Amino acid sequence: MIHINTKTFFDKLQLIVENKELIKLQLTGKREKSSDLKKIIVTAVEIKKGYCLNFVYRHNTKDITKNFDISEGIELIEKAMANEFYNAELFAKTENVNLIILPNEKAQLKSSQPTLQAPTTFTHDKVKDRLIEPFENIYLRELGITNANWEIRREMSDKYKQINKYIELLAPYLTELTVTDSLHFADMGSGKGYLTFALYDYLSNNLKLNTHATGVEFREDLVWTCNSIARQAGFENLIFVKGTIEKTELEKIDILIALHACDTATDDAIFRGIQSDAELIVCAPCCHKQIRKAFNVTNELSNVTKFGILKERQAEIITDTIRAMILEAHGYKTNVFEFIPLEHTPKNVMIVGKKVRNASPDKQGILKNIAAIKQVFGIEKHYLETLLGI
Ligand SMILES: C[S@@+](CC[C@H](N)C(=O)[O-])C[C@H]1O[C@@H](n2cnc3c(N)ncnc32)[C@H](O)[C@@H]1O
Repeated sequence: MIHINTKTFFDKLQLIVENKELIKLQLTGKREKSSDLKKIIVTAVEIKKGYCLNFVYRHNTKDITKNFDISEGIELIEKAMANEFYNAELFAKTENVNLIILPNEKAQLKSSQPTLQAPTTFTHDKVKDRLIEPFENIYLRELGITNANWEIRREMSDKYKQINKYIELLAPYLTELTVTDSLHFADMGSGKGYLTFALYDYLSNNLKLNTHATGVEFREDLVWTCNSIARQAGFENLIFVKGTIEKTELEKIDILIALHACDTATDDAIFRGIQSDAELIVCAPCCHKQIRKAFNVTNELSNVTKFGILKERQAEIITDTIRAMILEAHGYKTNVFEFIPLEHTPKNVMIVGKKVRNASPDKQGILKNIAAIKQVFGIEKHYLETLLGI
């Protein structure tokens, strides 16, 4: 670590950008604790007007993206480091450089071996076998997944792959739907809407189904942003409503999805799906606190819940097994599988229940098996049972 004048860092940055060696620069460590701006991420992009710097201003609840030409961009970075941030992490093809401004305004510079791969944008060849087409797809651009040229932005390529993977996994179920006339899907805890938009797009534009959809989300800012993007994208029948999974009034649900809704919110969602006799119920559960707290193992399996992380995993297995079994008891042919590779997120299990009409599941037998599992783990009730009055 050496003490320097910040000019050394900006000269280096200028050179790296000019040589097209910039992979990413991020400004972090906000000077003003109350500031809503958490970080700025800068990457280089090739757009119609030429080689530019793309700024993502990451606020607490939103991202704002802007492109600047090189000199203006570097000037803005200098200003941001003088007024808003203490830390600049520069990732280039040839090295990593970290500039730290100390509280006494002295600057330190640290250089190390490069750790990030050189930029790759998705070319049309790479995306051609994807189900969600990026070209002229307005919601992907507005969600920050594509740039102004409809190319997948490097830092969003994992998200783009995840969206496609999700549609790819659901496609076999969607093509077999029996409701094809006026299909309503509800996304419970829709968040930023990545998957809500993609599913609406796939059902309406790929499968040409007459679809309307509701995203339910209790964060007003997300609801507002998603509605604005839906209007820009011309998705007339997609609306987002502010409300809770438990109480929001919804018309008959044909497909219910709930991805990463926390803890028992997943149960609330499954309950609404069963109540509405939904044809498809899809959930990717999040945390599993209810069952973790409910464990009271007094038999030879007590060590299975002794160690924190393993107890957590056990809670996940028991929670989701019972969810899957309850779906089966209600006539849903249920599959549980890995949603996205484990290296991207540990929350990667997806439960899909497909209603089998005229099925006669052995409900009592299944409930008896659930009771046996609960007994082993000393669990009184699974929250989904409480909701269903089982
Ligand atoms: C982890 S995010 C997942 C967002 C989205 N489903 C996805 O997978 O990208 C969970 C979202 O659910 C919302 N949420 C959690 N519990 C909720 C509830 N009971 N009612 C409405 N929204 C809820 C949160 O505000 C958050 O936006």
